[in-house]
Amino acid sequence: MRERVTPLLSEAQIQVRVQELGAQLTRDYAGKELVVIGLLNGVFPFFADLVRAMDMDLDISFMQVASYGGGTESTGEVHILKDLDRSIQGFHALVVEDIVDTGLTLFKVGNLLKDREPLSLKICTLLDKPSRRKVQVPVDYVGFTIEDHFVVGYGLDFDGKLRNLPYVGVYHP
Ligand code: IMP
Ligand code: MG
Repeated sequence: MRERVTPLLSEAQIQVRVQELGAQLTRDYAGKELVVIGLLNGVFPFFADLVRAMDMDLDISFMQVASYGGGTESTGEVHILKDLDRSIQGFHALVVEDIVDTGLTLFKVGNLLKDREPLSLKICTLLDKPSRRKVQVPVDYVGFTIEDHFVVGYGLDFDGKLRNLPYVGVYHP
């Protein structure tokens, strides 16, 4: 499958941007009680790099939702496969995602988490594909804005594979 991938963002480019985001988040959340929420599975490398680029005390928790039925198009239905293991009431919550495409996943997750009364709720994504948006979601922190390509690597998969590529590339089926 790797031969079908054209590099888009190198490991070095990603690391520079992740350090910048980490520094910005450290400033923005200084002195606040923060829970960083990772959306599994795609977020795992970005999440690990991002929280290590944040020079502050924070808590982490994970959630897993499914919006794709195995293909490359969002179905619009979001199922919770794994919920947070803790309350976020009275904490600042930062949801970290690999990519925002149609926005449907974060729209649903955002509404669900708002009901749990965090002090604030913001979104950080490694990649943003704004041209594909179906619902408007406020994305507060963006690593890279990309064109309408299907991308893989650094957590992103095609049919479950290629998440372990250390860079982000365009997949050519
Ligand atoms: P949305 O609900 O359409 O915004 O889709 C969000 C989810 O779709 C992400 O968490 C990814 O799992 C998946 N996704 C969207 N675009 C891509 C892509 O280009 N490559 C791999 N996964 C993608
Ligand atoms: Mg995903």
